[in-house]
Amino acid sequence: MIPVITIDGPSGAGKGTIAQMLAIELNWNILDSGALYRTLAYFMKENSIGIENFEENHNMLKTRFKVSFDPGTPGEPVRVLFENQDITSIVRTERMAQLTSDLAAEPTIREFIKPCQREFMTPPGLIADGRDMGTVIFPDAKHKIFLTASAEERAKRRQTQLKRQGLEVNMRSLLLELEERDRKDTDREHSPLVPADDSITIDTTNLDPEGVVREIKNNL
Ligand code: C5P
Repeated sequence: MIPVITIDGPSGAGKGTIAQMLAIELNWNILDSGALYRTLAYFMKENSIGIENFEENHNMLKTRFKVSFDPGTPGEPVRVLFENQDITSIVRTERMAQLTSDLAAEPTIREFIKPCQREFMTPPGLIADGRDMGTVIFPDAKHKIFLTASAEERAKRRQTQLKRQGLEVNMRSLLLELEERDRKDTDREHSPLVPADDSITIDTTNLDPEGVVREIKNNL
């Protein structure tokens, strides 16, 4: 059985940073499922595909939708590679996140992405970051972590992240956008954002990334 550690939680809780640190330290594969959804949203937008004509484009999407990740360097976002292009900065914007969140509520989209996500489970192990990794995609994972943090702290972290990408954003609108996206992700009918029954919840508000990794490792 290939070992899987799932890391779920709301946006800005630290999932990406922690998943990256663990993947580098253990030398395991990484699945950034949010980036997978973002890439699909981007690809659909570029090709004028909506939910209404998704089925008729299903085969083309299946053939062309191949995403890979490079854990990159600590402090930098996990890199998203699609059709020989690094699309990290294109998909990691708050505008793309909102578009993605609407699309991710659609069962057709979730069913399409399900097998793509499971393909990442290859030796020696997988760190899977998302919203439903421990509940729906890898329910048999041995280690399930749910990260949380206060909304203000999460907005602050997202602002720092976007700044590093050269994007200036207003803190207040960022906070409102994050809260709106969390509400959508939590209230949706299909695969809502909830901790798995057998997950360990860690509040990261007052922890630095090293402290979170230490706590996870203490629980492995
Ligand atoms: O994690 P990230 O912010 O990149 O995710 C973008 C959006 O993708 C989330 O707000 C959520 O709507 C969706 N998503 C999801 N299920 C996942 C990962 C992300 O619905 N496993």
